[in-house]
Amino acid sequence: MSFVRAEIAVLKNILILESTCDETAAAVVTMEREVLSSVVASQEHLHEKYGGVVPEIASRAHVERIVPVIDEALRRANLSLDDIDAVAVANTPGLAGSLLVGLAAAKALCLARGLPLVAVNHLQAHIYACRLAAGHEVFPCLGLIVSGGHTSLYRCTTPLEFELLGGTIDDAAGEAFDKVASLLGLPFPGGPSIEKAAQGGDPRAVSLPRPLLDSDRLEFSFSGLKTAVRYRICPPGTAATALTPRAVADLAASFQEAAVDCLVGKTLLALKRTQMRVLCVGGGVAANARLRQRLGDEARRLGIALHIPPLSLCTDNAVMGAIAVERLLAGLVEPLDLDVYPGLVRQTSR
Ligand code: KG4
Ligand code: ZN
Repeated sequence: MSFVRAEIAVLKNILILESTCDETAAAVVTMEREVLSSVVASQEHLHEKYGGVVPEIASRAHVERIVPVIDEALRRANLSLDDIDAVAVANTPGLAGSLLVGLAAAKALCLARGLPLVAVNHLQAHIYACRLAAGHEVFPCLGLIVSGGHTSLYRCTTPLEFELLGGTIDDAAGEAFDKVASLLGLPFPGGPSIEKAAQGGDPRAVSLPRPLLDSDRLEFSFSGLKTAVRYRICPPGTAATALTPRAVADLAASFQEAAVDCLVGKTLLALKRTQMRVLCVGGGVAANARLRQRLGDEARRLGIALHIPPLSLCTDNAVMGAIAVERLLAGLVEPLDLDVYPGLVRQTSR
């Protein structure tokens, strides 16, 4: 559905909703990309005891949180619903039940208020966080998305045009951090726990594989690395023994170094293949200090521009959904029968 330019000219404030996984988030952003408010309600404590996100629990928690989170975003922006000119919502990819809650809330607001509905692709939004943090254009760029559900490299010609260059053939990097943390008895979410434990460990203490790193395939693989950690903790055929704090720190540091080696190595390969001079990194794992440091070193060495958003824009948030501005400027709004696409990047990719 297209939106006529005369109508776009009068738009001012966009309410953005994000509920793709286990964060319920809302933000108010202007058409000039000024962030008026951002609210993120985390569900970490609900999923902690399971060592991972439980989809049914996540969607029920979104139902409880979505209205208070929207109210709080409006309150912090000092605005009421009367001041909102469009509603944007992430409808792909993510957990089906979680996506549905955000989409239903967005549709209800649009229907009640006669507002345009804008679809946000959560992966494109993770890269768009770099555009917001930079405060200037970053496209075309190579996009590296490292999150709990995705680990992929994209040629991002414009904010809305993404070409997949390669991704993980099994686990996502964040998933591997979460599972290894659980094996080491560290709290959920695993990424920050591994990073913290690794600070006291030796990254060379345990020899771990770097799957696919030596191949010229633009793909990642983390399940073998995860299994290698498992067998280091408890070799096949032996009984599990308690790990000393030193062993936990060394395993955490060695795992983190191996995962970062794989992420950096394939990113360098993609930069070489595409000859792109700008690298944008998004997703929860982009919060990892060791990954940020290693990418920073490589960017300086190669003389390329590196954009990694501040931590609050790396993990899931609604502000990055300001990519809706680009869709509105392109005249792209959605009908109210818009659906969710849990696994597929459809509908919102142009
Ligand atoms: O992008 P995100 O918030 O949600 C998804 O779309 O998946 O990413 C969540 C993932 C989790 O797997 C979490 O463990 C990981 O990001 N993560 C980290 C760090 N902070 C969050 N991984 C490594 N180091 C971190 N500091
Ligand atoms: Zn995400």
